[in-house]
Amino acid sequence: MKLPKHLAIIMDGNGRWANARGHNRLFGHVRGAKRAKFIIEESARIGIENLTLFTFSTENWRRPSQEVNFLMALLKKQLKKEVRNLVDNDIRFRCIGDISRLPTGVRNQVEETISETAHCKGMNLTFALNYGGQQEIIQATKSLIQKAIDGEITPDQVNEKMMSNELESSFSPFPDLIVRTSGESRLSNFFLWQAAYSEFYVTNIHWPDFQRAELQKALEWFAQTERRFGMTSRQVKMRPPSTTEHGTPQEPLGL
Ligand code: IPE
Ligand code: IPE
Ligand code: MG
Repeated sequence: MKLPKHLAIIMDGNGRWANARGHNRLFGHVRGAKRAKFIIEESARIGIENLTLFTFSTENWRRPSQEVNFLMALLKKQLKKEVRNLVDNDIRFRCIGDISRLPTGVRNQVEETISETAHCKGMNLTFALNYGGQQEIIQATKSLIQKAIDGEITPDQVNEKMMSNELESSFSPFPDLIVRTSGESRLSNFFLWQAAYSEFYVTNIHWPDFQRAELQKALEWFAQTERRFGMTSRQVKMRPPSTTEHGTPQEPLGL
């Protein structure tokens, strides 16, 4: 089966899952963290090369402070508990997003997990943490402007590739498949630039209920999807488009 090189998941619905069962939202996050562990190990097992999990958005700071504090503490605890497992599974952990704003203890644990798994060669696992697609694009834009000021580039040289290379997430290809649990059909500021040609799979299943079979369903749906990148179905069948390291089609646009 054709697997996505990069699978990204918007893990949504912890709160609704918990409320539907008469629990508070925080319990939903505990079960959501357990689900993340399972899906990470399952993805590595089946041969996904890059997995990104949307863990905490730049907008999630707007939640009640009790929930934000709980999420931060849960993240720290979970990473501390799992770092050995990540190494044993040869999983390299990285982050995108501004981790400097995280509480010190959480940031230290995140940095420790990054450095302890830096030698791992199996799956690349990325947590989008205090991540926003708009903020990532602004950061890249600032850096390109600085390069222009320093005389390294001229404005007319700026193109898609240059922009892609400047993004914090440039170490991984663009996501081929973005899965969102819990029914909402929106990106919520996730991978705005990179999602240009991602396949988007939405399921009504809440994240804590996202079992192996649900992952399998999403992957099977992806495998039968024809990715056309603006071309016709006939063209794609005759010559499937080759893509750049970022996952965008390599052929000139023919303007
Ligand atoms: C996803 O579940 C977890 C985070 C965004 C941190 P939610 O907490 O958004 O759950 P719902 O969407 O309110 O059900
Ligand atoms: C997106 O979920 C962020 C994460 C999954 C971390 P949200 O629950 O925050 O998204 P909105 O606010 O419903 O769009
Ligand atoms: Mg939500």
